[in-house]
Amino acid sequence: MPKPIVVVGSLNFDYLIDVARLPKPNETLIGRGIRTAIGGKGLNQAAACAAFGRPVEMVGAVGADAIGQQALGHLTRKGVGTAHVRTLNDARTGQAHILVAEDGQNMIVVTPGANGRVSSADIDAAESLIAGASAVVVQLEIPLPAVRRALELARAHGILSIVNPAPADPGVLDLLPLADVVTPNELELMALTGITDLSDASLIEGLNALITAGARRAVVTLGSAGCATLAGSELIRIPAFAVRAVDATGAGDTFNGALTDRLIAGETVAEALRYASAAAAISVTRASADAAPTPREVDAFLAQHPAHTNGH
Ligand code: RIB
Repeated sequence: MPKPIVVVGSLNFDYLIDVARLPKPNETLIGRGIRTAIGGKGLNQAAACAAFGRPVEMVGAVGADAIGQQALGHLTRKGVGTAHVRTLNDARTGQAHILVAEDGQNMIVVTPGANGRVSSADIDAAESLIAGASAVVVQLEIPLPAVRRALELARAHGILSIVNPAPADPGVLDLLPLADVVTPNELELMALTGITDLSDASLIEGLNALITAGARRAVVTLGSAGCATLAGSELIRIPAFAVRAVDATGAGDTFNGALTDRLIAGETVAEALRYASAAAAISVTRASADAAPTPREVDAFLAQHPAHTNGH
């Protein structure tokens, strides 16, 4: 039996409101409609890893409410183990309110609920699971002490760790000595490192800051500009694939799931990033965060897109 990926993170219920464009501060817009979906960066990344055919176990918390039960059922249908998702009687399941614009861009506000109660003790209770994992994947929609404990256990047991620092919290910088790979998006890289633009020089500075803080590798996702990493002091840019974006919600989650899958498979980082970019490109053509493709779909997409477009 292959070792499971252990995803330590959030489970949410998403309310997605379609709008022509994102609002400005103090502005009122009329929405075009509202959709609901099961989400949460943790849950989405767990589902993405499972879509790539990996056994996956989730560690987290939901409330004792109907949407918590829906989230657990959703994970079970995706083949993700939920034995380490605690149900809390005195908390509500996390919720996210998401505006999705016509161009696919979004704005997200998360109300953590039970996610905010995931503790170091919950992680300790999952130590044997983590010790036998192929990788541990974390994000920042649960408290930092729990994230730290997951990374400490992963490092103690020699397990690959992927840190998706979303949403950005400067406290994550103290955890980077425990991170094998850190994967901010462009806004998170700016928030964490103080870079103010996305020029090559600034990306090198920002990614280097994460390495200096202790991460073994840093990858930044850049939306329609692809993603980038460092090879020594050189910036490697992987351009995005040109697709018609419908909803970028969860594209980063799909990217992280695919990247984790490919790193476990032993691919080089450049290969893994190209594959993860293809998976993310497919996901933005689909509505909602539950959009991770299967390996067959990614392979077909890569066959149809043998060369990258330049920067789109
Ligand atoms: O990354 C997308 C996710 O962010 C949504 O599913 C929402 O729940 C928030 O966690």
